[in-house]
Formats: sequence, C-alpha cells, structure tokens
Amino acid sequence: MHEADPPLLTIELDGLERLHRGKVRDLFRVGDDLLLVTSDRVSAFDVVMNEGVPGKGRVLNQVSAFWFDQLSRILPNHKITIDVDAMPDAVRRHARVLRGRSMLARRTRPLPVEFVVRGYLAGSGLAEYRATRSICGVQLPDGLAESSRLPEPILTPTTKEQAGHDRPITFDEMAKILGPERARETKAAALALYQAAHEIAEARGLLLADTKFEFGELNGRLIWIDEALTPDSSRYWAKAAWRPGVPQDPFDKQVLRNYLLGLKDWNKAPPAPTLPASIIETTAQRYRETARILMGHDVD
Ligand SMILES: Nc1ncnc2c1ncn2[C@@H]1O[C@H](COP(=O)(O)OP(=O)(O)OP(=O)(O)O)[C@@H](O)[C@H]1O
Ligand SMILES: [Mg+2]
Repeated sequence: MHEADPPLLTIELDGLERLHRGKVRDLFRVGDDLLLVTSDRVSAFDVVMNEGVPGKGRVLNQVSAFWFDQLSRILPNHKITIDVDAMPDAVRRHARVLRGRSMLARRTRPLPVEFVVRGYLAGSGLAEYRATRSICGVQLPDGLAESSRLPEPILTPTTKEQAGHDRPITFDEMAKILGPERARETKAAALALYQAAHEIAEARGLLLADTKFEFGELNGRLIWIDEALTPDSSRYWAKAAWRPGVPQDPFDKQVLRNYLLGLKDWNKAPPAPTLPASIIETTAQRYRETARILMGHDVD
C-alpha cells in the first residue's frame, strides 16, 4: 500500500480514448478490449464527495479481481488481467498511475438490466416490503424485520437507465426486455453467484446482505462484467454485529455515512460538504480492512 499517496481523483491517459466517466470509474478503449480504471472518488447518497479516499480505487479493483477469480467456475467474466506489466504498451506507459487500480477486460454488449440479488431486508427492498409485502413482484412472508435474512435469496432486477434513477422491474418485465431464455439464464447465474459469494464472505466474518451484478454478451455468450461484489456495489455487514430488527451499518461507508447523517445543514444533494481528514482516513482504513478480510491479505 501507498497510504501516503494523495487520492487519485481525475484520470488522464494520453493516447487512450476515454469511453465513459462514471461516478467512480473511467473506461478507456484498448483495441477491442476495455481498460477500467478505478479512481479514489467516493460517493454517498449518490453525491460524489470533493475529497477522495486514498487507496480506495485499488481496493475496489483488487476486490473485483478476487471475486472474478473465485467465481469463474460459475460464469465466465470479462477480466483479462489486472497486471499492468502484462497490458499493451499504450497502457503500460501509464503504469505509475494505473498500477493496482486498473483491469483490462473484454468489451461486451451490456444487457440493459441491473441484476440485484438480496439475501437480507435493507434499503429500497425494505421500503417496498413494508408497503407491499413483496419486492419486484416476489412475494415474501409476513413478519420479516429490518435486516432479517430472507427465506431464500431473491432477484430484484432494475432497469439500467442512461439518466435518472434505475426502476425496479418484475421478472416478467425483465423477460420482455431480455427474452425468456436470457432472463432465466441470468436469474440463475445471479443467484448462483450470490450464494457462492455469501458462503465465502460469511466464512470470513462478513455477511453479503445484497449486491448488484451486470452481465454482457460477447459472441452470443453470457459474460459477468463491470465490478464484482465490491463495497460500492454491495452491502457487507459485520457478521458478529448482525441483529435483525434494526438498521445495520455498512461495514465500509459506515463512518462516512454516519458523519453525513449527523450534518444538520446538508440535504444530501450537491454540493458535497467538506470532509474532515479523520473521516477520510478512517474510511480508507475500513475499505482496506474489508479487502483484507475478504482476500485474506492486504491490497497491493
Ligand atoms: N466488459 C464490459 N463491456 C462493456 N461495458 C462494460 C463492461 N464492464 C463495464 N461496462 C459498463 O461500463 C460502465 C461503467 O460505468 P461506471 O460504473 O463507472 O459508471 P456508471 O454505472 O455509468 O455510473 P455510476 O457512477 O452510477 O456507477 C457501465 O455502464 C457498465 O455497464
Ligand atoms: Mg456503475
């Protein structure tokens, strides 16, 4: 780790075409492939903070690579390598910026659905359950509390909107978008990936409350793309502290979220408030700790 390095907020790579800049990651074209570069930008309540969290990008990139490797027996994924020295020259030139935080990946045609899988009741799933006793058309039993484990994990897909918030959809709506066969295949894959990941994380002391998968198509084949079970796409809870009936703190962003919730004059819309150095440092430590727990070793 290079904790002393300043956080990387903007990524400029001479000679590479940027395809997309998301809240946290930048995508570049490398021939027929993609380079995904994870910055140290951090967002909470959908607002990107002005400050970065040093080392966070390396955590997310290496946690993704870990999960892609662990679960490749369940579904092929887009990862080619995260070893910058093994990447093409046009990329290697930027090794100093890219090392540890970038993944060369196969470029696919992304499916226009976000495959959310929930094993516990939290977030928007909890709100929908309270209103309707179901989530995305999946009927659930009475009497579940906030943070309860569901009888079995469920797929609660959403649309993938270009602008604005993603919209929850039922399996039948998903089948209209993807076709019945792709819908069945992706549902089975998402649930199998979740179950396997939950088992691995739980054995290491973290509960995987829910997560979001993305899939793409390449030559007609289904490929797991984007980020894999990172703290940005998933809720991890400390297993030892888990208690149904009350909200659980997300393991990584707990410190940052609690700080923001405690601000009386910030309404969770841009501009972001200024973060104290101690909050940033504790958040950075939490991200590293999550990675260490999952991977069994420190982030490079
Ligand atoms: N292997 C791949 N092939 C094609 N597209 C991919 C691949 N992996 C990821 N993507 C796409 O790249 C984009 C990554 O963007 P990113 O997650 O950084 O931002 P975003 O999802 O647009 O916005 P947000 O800031 O809300 O996350 C997504 O649209 C994702 O579907
Ligand atoms: Mg995204």
